[in-house]
Amino acid sequence: MAPAATNVPTTPPRVVGPATKKATRPTNQLPQSMIDEARMVRKEAFDPKVHLNYDPPRRIYTMKEIGNVNISFGDGTTATWNRTTDSEDGTSAVAWHYDSFPFVCVTMLSDCNGMVGGETALRRPDGHIMKVRGPAMGTAMVLQGRYIEHQALKAVGGRERISMVTSFRPRSPIIKDETVLTGVRGISDLSTLYSQYTDYRLELLEERLRLMLKEERRRQIANHPFDLPKVRKFLVEQKEFLDSMLEELIEVHD
Ligand SMILES: [Fe+2]
Repeated sequence: MAPAATNVPTTPPRVVGPATKKATRPTNQLPQSMIDEARMVRKEAFDPKVHLNYDPPRRIYTMKEIGNVNISFGDGTTATWNRTTDSEDGTSAVAWHYDSFPFVCVTMLSDCNGMVGGETALRRPDGHIMKVRGPAMGTAMVLQGRYIEHQALKAVGGRERISMVTSFRPRSPIIKDETVLTGVRGISDLSTLYSQYTDYRLELLEERLRLMLKEERRRQIANHPFDLPKVRKFLVEQKEFLDSMLEELIEVHD
């Protein structure tokens, strides 16, 4: 059996980012026909009853299942294929990567009828690759992209394919936040990005310190012995949290 996750010191996967460090304008113009057509579409307010088509998944894969080597799957919703044959045959739209944010939610806005491909491929630590069906129009997929190596496969056929990608982090301050800015630095206004990042990170830290202090005072009142390993572990984690901020908040030159 795998050791309990809480006792294993872990370092998050390294995120490889684009070479551009500052926001750049797109070089290719959108086709005029696409712009004209989009202007003709009637605007409608979002209504989940009308615009969402939610079906609970037949099965949910947990991190424990696909993050370790003890895995069994194959219920028709996923497929495996050979890692050596898929990598350089031009079927991927984006290279293998980890995301900068803990979770990503991909909502499909286009009608994918007649489209072939477009799945997300996940690479397990043992090298096996799982292919997950892409979301259909009005549906979404949530992935722990910061920790699971993945790539988007090319879609052929159909018309344009527009998806909305939203990143999330855990709400709770006591859950690890290993967000990095690698993927967004090159497409963001740095002053906005850095200030929003600093804001939420300091808020997290503030909340963590408050919680820890509360616990410590409670311990003193209850006359329980000082828990040295626990306090040291907490301090090391917060030090790493600040070190990570120092790595992310860097000066970028043109
Ligand atoms: Fe991704």
